[in-house]
Amino acid sequence: MPQLFEPTAINGMVLKNRFIRSATYEAMAGSDGTVREQLLEYMAELTRGQVGLIISGHAYVNRAGQAGPRQLGIHSEAMVQGLKRFTSVIHDHGGVVAVQLAHAGKRGIGTGEHGAVGPSDVIEEGVKTASAMDTDTIRKTIIAFGEAAQRAVAAGFDAIQIHAAHGYMLSQFLSPSFNTREDAYGGSLENRARLLLEVYQEIRHRVGEHFPLLVKINAEDFLEGGLTVAEMVQVSRMLADGGLDAIEMSGGTFESGRSTPSRVGTAKSAEREVYYRTAAAAFRQEVKIPLILVGGFLSYPSAEEVVQSRLADYVALSRPLIREPQLVQRWRDGQRSKASCISCNRCFATLATKEGLHCAAEKKLQESKNPA
Ligand SMILES: Cc1cc2nc3c(=O)[nH]c(=O)nc-3n(C[C@H](O)[C@H](O)[C@H](O)COP(=O)(O)O)c2cc1C
Repeated sequence: MPQLFEPTAINGMVLKNRFIRSATYEAMAGSDGTVREQLLEYMAELTRGQVGLIISGHAYVNRAGQAGPRQLGIHSEAMVQGLKRFTSVIHDHGGVVAVQLAHAGKRGIGTGEHGAVGPSDVIEEGVKTASAMDTDTIRKTIIAFGEAAQRAVAAGFDAIQIHAAHGYMLSQFLSPSFNTREDAYGGSLENRARLLLEVYQEIRHRVGEHFPLLVKINAEDFLEGGLTVAEMVQVSRMLADGGLDAIEMSGGTFESGRSTPSRVGTAKSAEREVYYRTAAAAFRQEVKIPLILVGGFLSYPSAEEVVQSRLADYVALSRPLIREPQLVQRWRDGQRSKASCISCNRCFATLATKEGLHCAAEKKLQESKNPA
C-alpha cells in the first residue's frame, strides 16, 4: 500500500514524501518580476518544512501574461540569475522545486501593446477588456512558453508545471464558456485543447524527454458551458499519450461562485475536504500517469486515505502551508492534528500588502497575544 512518507520518483525527480506545495502566488518579487530576498527566505522556510516538492507561484512567460503585481517573472533572460538563487536556496535546504509557467490570458495586467489577450474578445459594460489572439500572437505565446522553459532549466529547476487551470489563458482556451473561436483553436474539444498540447510539445521539444513536466488542469470549470469532467479526462489522456509525466487536478475559475479553486469555509468531513474526489476517480480509470490532487485538504487522515486507496499519488496543499509552513514536518513527526488553516481566504487580501503573502488569521492571533 502506498504511504505518505516514502520516496517516489516522477521521471527521475525524487520526492521524499507524497506532499506537494501547490503553486501559490506570493507577491514577493520585484515590480519587474525579479526574485528578491524575501521570496528566498520564504522558500527556505517552506523547504525546512519538509514538503516533498515545492511548486513556485505562477510565473509569467511574457509581459502580456502577467496576472498581478510583484508576481514572479520568467519572461526574459534577465530573470535567470535571480531564479538560480531561488532554486539554490531550496536545493541547499534539501528540497526539490518546480516552476509553474503561466499566462493570465484575459486576466492579464501586463503592459503589452494591445492590453489583455485571450481566446476571444471580452466586452464588459460596453468596454473591450481583452482581445482575441490572432494566430501570430498564439505562435509567439507558444514560443514564449518554450523560451521560459529553457530559462527554467538554466536556472536549475527540477521540473516544470504548465498552468492550465483556474481560468487563466490555457484554461480559457479549454473552456467553451470563454472560448468562442471558430478557427483551429475553438469549437471541438480537440481544437480547444490544441493550444495546451502545442505549448506542451514546444516545451517537451526544448527540455527533452528526461525532464519532468507536469500540467495543472481543472477537473471542471463549474460554469455553464464550461469544461466538464469527461472532457478533462480526454485532455489528460491526450497529454499522457504525448509523454506528460503527471497531472495536478484542481477546479473552478474566478467566475465559478462558490466553486472557486480555493473554497471558503471549514470542511466538516473528510469527503468535503477532497473537492475533486469523483473527478479523480474518473481520471484514474482512464489515465495512467501519476495524479496530484489539490483542493481543501486539511487533515492527515484525508491525505492518507487518498494515497492509500490510490485515488491519487500525491496530495497538494496551498493555504494550509501559508499558515503552517512546517505542517508536513509536524505530521511526519507524529503530531497529526488537523492543519490550523480555517479556509477563510483572507490570505488573498495579503497579496496586496507590502509584506506579500501571509496568513491574516495567524497574524491577527499573534497580534492579540502580543499587543504592541
Ligand atoms: C493566495 C493564493 C495564491 C494562489 N496562487 C496560485 C498560483 O499561482 N497558481 C495556481 O495554480 N494556483 C494558485 N492558487 C490555488 C492553490 O494552488 C490551490 O489550488 C487552491 O488554493 C486549493 O488548495 P488548498 O485548499 O490547499 O488551498 C493560489 C491559492 C491561494 C490561496
